[in-house]
Amino acid sequence: MDLNTRLQNVTVIGAAGKMGSGIALLLAQELGFMASENKDKNFILNLIDINDNSLLGLMKYIREQATATAERQINRLRTLYKDHSDLVENGEMVSEYVHEVMLHVRTGKTLELAKDSLMIFEAAFEKEELKREIYQELATLVPKEAFFFTNTSSIPIHILAEQGNISTRLIGYHFYNPPAVQKLVELIVPDNVSPELKSLSLDLAKRLDKKIVPANDIAGFIGNGHFIRDGLYALREVQNLAAKFGFVPAIYMVDKVSRDYLLRPMGIFQLLDYVGIDVFQMILAVMNRYIPKAELQSDVIDRYMKLGVKGGQTSSGAQKDGFLKYDKGKPVGVYDPDKYQYVALQDSPLKETDAKLGEHPDARLAWKDLSKDSDKENKLKKYFASWKSKTGLGLDIAKRHFLASKETGKLLVDMKVAASADEVNKVLTLGFFHLYGPINNYLE
Ligand SMILES: NC(=O)c1ccc[n+]([C@@H]2O[C@H](COP(=O)([O-])OP(=O)(O)OC[C@H]3O[C@@H](n4cnc5c(N)ncnc54)[C@H](O)[C@@H]3O)[C@@H](O)[C@H]2O)c1
Repeated sequence: MDLNTRLQNVTVIGAAGKMGSGIALLLAQELGFMASENKDKNFILNLIDINDNSLLGLMKYIREQATATAERQINRLRTLYKDHSDLVENGEMVSEYVHEVMLHVRTGKTLELAKDSLMIFEAAFEKEELKREIYQELATLVPKEAFFFTNTSSIPIHILAEQGNISTRLIGYHFYNPPAVQKLVELIVPDNVSPELKSLSLDLAKRLDKKIVPANDIAGFIGNGHFIRDGLYALREVQNLAAKFGFVPAIYMVDKVSRDYLLRPMGIFQLLDYVGIDVFQMILAVMNRYIPKAELQSDVIDRYMKLGVKGGQTSSGAQKDGFLKYDKGKPVGVYDPDKYQYVALQDSPLKETDAKLGEHPDARLAWKDLSKDSDKENKLKKYFASWKSKTGLGLDIAKRHFLASKETGKLLVDMKVAASADEVNKVLTLGFFHLYGPINNYLE
């Protein structure tokens, strides 16, 4: 059965969540285009979530975003509606398209809604038992030829497939956040997956304008395989620095150096807060369960969770406080777990910390400018070459982190999570917006 036939009845589970809503939007828009071109066919997109209120918000979100997409793609709409003499103005075409998008979407709380679906995208909470229950129930409901796409960030796909009685029919389709914007999809193909599902997944990526990077079916895959180990490295570095500088300044230093010296879009603790300390802990547990001798653990993470400091986002998308405190999305303080409160960046001891780090190797360079610079590669080479002749605490921390990140990248290739350095580098550059892949020769 080809992709077009399967797209006639699609389901998203966990559709009101962060990832589910983005996946729902992508599919709703695609079905909107298909339905406009194929008036003789029926299209249904089932959006399922246990959270009723959020489903209402989801419909509003899809309508607004589809309108914005239609306005951006007005030339595509002009071609689409060229034979519709009644649609002349841009606004009329936009309204017609958005009407078409919304016409095919239906929402509900129970899996029953998915019973005729041929493609099912699952983006429920990252909990193995929950996903298992969902798949087991779906297996009894949906047609035998239905295919499943899970957005799990860490759980081995073959485990979910076996537990859910859907072996050969489940593939890892790991969208990045936000799915409608991020180009990367990590494709995790378990050994015994149906070849039809694999080729369909590649066709779908082209249709949704996504770039596929294959990862092997090992817990955490490439993205979290690097991120979790990078976070744990940073926490170990903090513990080493804390002996001399104190815990709070150490968090500040490692975060600042990972952003400003390694030229990343955000510091490692800001990223950890963005993902959520609770999510980080959950992924750690999955990786420990499924990777023999992984020994991935952090007392600091466990301590913060006990203290209820979790990061993550509010329902409106604002950043919640975690390792760092935020004001309008920008870090303004660091949490002190001994005092149960945040220390402001402009107060002691943080205000004295910058001086201790020493001079930045090239303070003019910033991630934001370089990410748009056509001469980026050249500038990066010069920047890292300049590290050799300079010294300072900040640079020492940066060098250690840079090399640890490279070692993690190489480990993922050695463990065969990634087929080559290229895949690791692609995930970090495309999915995490790093300016360079961790496996590089800049410091050689
Ligand atoms: N947030 C990210 O950055 C990110 C990135 C990549 C992958 N992922 C993965 O995507 C999945 C979803 O993560 P998220 O961050 O969107 O979570 P989320 O908490 O924002 O959303 C999960 C949604 O699932 C719904 N849900 C829970 N149980 C359900 C059930 N039985 N039936 C239907 N819906 C149910 C919840 O109501 C919620 O709306 C997870 O597997 C996660 O690991 C997350």
